Amino acid sequence: MATRVAARASSAVRGPPSLLSLARRPRWRSPSPVQSCYSSSGPTSSIAIEGADGKTYKTDEWMNTPPSILSAVSKRLHLQPDHPLAITRQLIESRFPGYAYHNALFPIVTTHQNFDSLGFPPDHPGRSRTDTYYINSKTVLRTHTSAHQADTFRANETPGYLISADVYRRDAVDRSHYPVFHQMEGAMTWDRDSVPAGSTLAQQIWADVAKIPAHPGLAAQDPNPTMHPDRNPLQPEHAADEVEAVAAHLKRSLEDVVVAIFTAARAATTTPSGDAPPDEPLQIRWVEAYFPFTSPSWELEVFWQGEWLEVLGSGVVRHSILAAAGVPTRIGWAFGLGLERIAMLLFSIPDIRLFWSEDQRFLSQFSASKPIARFAPFSKYPACFKDVSFWLPVGAGGNSAGGLVAGFHENDVMELVRDVAGDLAEDVRLVDEFTHPKTGRRSCCYRINYRSLERTLTNEETNELHERLRRTLVGRLGVELR
Ligand code: PHE
Repeated sequence: MATRVAARASSAVRGPPSLLSLARRPRWRSPSPVQSCYSSSGPTSSIAIEGADGKTYKTDEWMNTPPSILSAVSKRLHLQPDHPLAITRQLIESRFPGYAYHNALFPIVTTHQNFDSLGFPPDHPGRSRTDTYYINSKTVLRTHTSAHQADTFRANETPGYLISADVYRRDAVDRSHYPVFHQMEGAMTWDRDSVPAGSTLAQQIWADVAKIPAHPGLAAQDPNPTMHPDRNPLQPEHAADEVEAVAAHLKRSLEDVVVAIFTAARAATTTPSGDAPPDEPLQIRWVEAYFPFTSPSWELEVFWQGEWLEVLGSGVVRHSILAAAGVPTRIGWAFGLGLERIAMLLFSIPDIRLFWSEDQRFLSQFSASKPIARFAPFSKYPACFKDVSFWLPVGAGGNSAGGLVAGFHENDVMELVRDVAGDLAEDVRLVDEFTHPKTGRRSCCYRINYRSLERTLTNEETNELHERLRRTLVGRLGVELR
């Protein structure tokens, strides 16, 4: 599972096209049947999308985006305060002081932004309607944050920037895959024309490398040369000593991020007795990679709970992209990482769908102002609420705030529910109580939430449990049902 999530961060754009198509789409899987369901009736149809500030989009026969996916556009989980994705984003941002943070870029982009500007060949499988959500032949839901690279380089506001955003890919839905997820893009570039006389570009970059915290305790494997003529070539516009310096800056920046994340994750991964796991050195490795928009390129893998996990893709930005963006004198690096992937490790969140949960039992577990803590799983099976109201026996008096009043204690009700329903009762609470003005008798109403951790309870089963509870209340506590 873990490796597949990681692959999400880069699979749509990784590898030579021939390999990629084999890896990504099993031969037995036919071209998507979903497409026709959501096609608009003709080239003149248009759709309005919530969150698009009233903008409408023309659809055509390329349209394959279902309403459920369009409805994710307005969610922006990475910006919701105290959401685990937002906490993860902020933790990474804190390791890049001085960078600009762009967090509100709209997800509907042109095929030029998502593919052409980055040098994707016209036949690249990432462009296919089986992999990508189209609105029309020239408009897609971005498949990666790199869709904004060219525009951000063109704006040229800061040498370093981070972009966090929702991205969309057609894929299976399981515990580690969801068709909408979040990425963070980062980039840093230097301008040749701004190097002071008497210094070189490489020296300038190395001086910046020295400012990044180093982690000598980190066991980093980096066995390959920074560039390799066949496997990971130097671009013709670059000098080798410059690329060595750029690569060192990239790697040290990202190693610092990884150390911050895994230190927090490890601190959160305490055993039930409160002991921290053995303090083994964090192991990471740099692996050669391929992206159409960087060269040389690398992926970073981290050894976590017995497995090598791919956490990000990165490389030296193609000169052609910077030149086309009007900044031909700049050189630098870029990376892209999957935020869910990191957040799942950070908080031990077992299922990617949980990020979309609006259940307070999920959301209330995370706080940006508290230390990272492990997520405590709860049942995902449906809740079934049932109320029981009764008159307390005469003489039992009232039951205020759960206290003992004349022989009746709320904990008796609690215990009785546990006796009858066992672990199928998730929650019991007093929802109403009052005293009859004439008779002085007190009445209580309790609400029981029946929910299994393992399965969906049938109506019959919960009705029967609840009926048994009612009878037992009468039999054991002498209440009168209402
Ligand atoms: N956009 C790439 C992906 O989604 C990741 C990446 C970003 C790789 C920047 C290199 C540089 O897989």
